[in-house]
Amino acid sequence: MKFFNLSVAAVLQLAIAIGIVHAASAPDNSVPGLIISHIVPVGEYNMTYWVDAPGIGTVAARALDARACGTNDVSCSGSHLASTDICRQLINNLNTGTSIGNSPRSICLGQSNNQCCVSWSGAVGTMPESNLFNAANKIFATCWSPTNGSGLARNVILNNICVTECLSNRPNGCS
Ligand SMILES: *[C@@H]1O[C@H](CO)[C@@H](O)[C@H](O)[C@H]1NC(C)=O
Ligand SMILES: *[C@@H]1O[C@H](CO)[C@@H](O)[C@H](O)[C@H]1NC(C)=O
Repeated sequence: MKFFNLSVAAVLQLAIAIGIVHAASAPDNSVPGLIISHIVPVGEYNMTYWVDAPGIGTVAARALDARACGTNDVSCSGSHLASTDICRQLINNLNTGTSIGNSPRSICLGQSNNQCCVSWSGAVGTMPESNLFNAANKIFATCWSPTNGSGLARNVILNNICVTECLSNRPNGCS
């Protein structure tokens, strides 16, 4: 674990040194294996796009099995709860044609102590943000109370690959 954390820090420092990552966008709460790609203001919040850190191995996404995938099977969770208000705004902003760049892994609205994140279990490459909408909306509709919620959907097709999609207060940990 120590070795892994050091590696992430070293990679991030190198990326900053050679100008891939602007130092100002280095997160206060670094997330193992992920770095920030870019930040876009949305309403009163920031939308943060997380991508795989360079050189960090990612879980290979399962090949699409058309017979078994696309059912968006929702399970709710009591941990990593995210605010109803912020999650609604995040989901509303997913239903656009915006294409998200290299190796995207999660999108968060808000900041680390109060955010809602959509994340997924493996790298799927570049895709329109709207690919995330249906499963996120189903998780939200199934799992959220008037104040908060957390959950995931299994057998979600993203960019023609079968993954698990999560909606919670963290940009990582979706499996
Ligand atoms: C949004 O992010 C920028 C840095 O990219 C920061 O300066 C600003 O304070 C953030 N705004 C909010 C509301 O978190
Ligand atoms: C989440 O919502 C539940 C049910 O509405 C509430 O009891 C709980 O206090 C909330 N927790 C947080 C962290 O907001």
